[in-house]
Amino acid sequence: MSGRWSRGPSAVAGESRGHGALSPTLLAWLAEEPRATGTVLDVGTGTGRLARALAPRAHRVLGIDTDGAALVDARRHARRAGLGNVVFVVADAEEADYRMLGRPNLVAAHLCMSDRIIERAAAGLPPGGVLVFAAFHVDQWRETGRVSRFAYDEHRARAVLEAAAFRIERLEVEREVREFHSAAEALAYAGRFRPKWDGDGRWLGWERFVAAGGRTLTEGRLVVHARIGTA
Ligand SMILES: C[S@@+](CC[C@H](N)C(=O)[O-])C[C@H]1O[C@@H](n2cnc3c(N)ncnc32)[C@H](O)[C@@H]1O
Repeated sequence: MSGRWSRGPSAVAGESRGHGALSPTLLAWLAEEPRATGTVLDVGTGTGRLARALAPRAHRVLGIDTDGAALVDARRHARRAGLGNVVFVVADAEEADYRMLGRPNLVAAHLCMSDRIIERAAAGLPPGGVLVFAAFHVDQWRETGRVSRFAYDEHRARAVLEAAAFRIERLEVEREVREFHSAAEALAYAGRFRPKWDGDGRWLGWERFVAAGGRTLTEGRLVVHARIGTA
């Protein structure tokens, strides 16, 4: 069956434009999946962007997150979009038994991934079940001098997935390097990240990079489509 996962009418203004938009590669790969007859699990759903994109082509979508406040927004957005097949539940994706979460055939995630989540997905999916995700790549904001502890490079992602008995069907890196004409332009652009970067030293690293003549800012996401081995 053809069809597209798209922002469509369920997108919320300001939530998915420009920086931080849902990964186009992830959405394209999900569009090629057969229509889900069971439950699709969106781990680390946040305000439910991916869950809403999944809903039109799924029987049921279950979004889980540890952040109950984000799920209040997620429910409101889904209700406003008229989506009756999306449910949001507070759950820890690193601890939950996914078989108790609607026995999903497809587990999806956007910017919420860890070795533990890969292990939980492997344990919870039936043979042939699919894990599709976009995670931060280690190049994400490399100019700040810090790598997120949730980031993957290709080698480590392959190793963790294969150790969990996943067969990797597709693996790509989405990378965008923004270039600035001046230090002022670079600092002004990154100002939107300052509240987050101030807390962990990234802003200081970024200022040093710009002061040394750096005029780029890199975003990188690793996108994976993997299938659990059949017995
Ligand atoms: C960067 S946000 C991405 C949100 C959403 N997937 C999106 O792309 O809009 C990461 C989300 O993962 C959630 N999260 C982090 N660790 C989690 C865990 N162990 N179990 C469930 N959710 C988790 C956070 O609360 C946050 O909502």
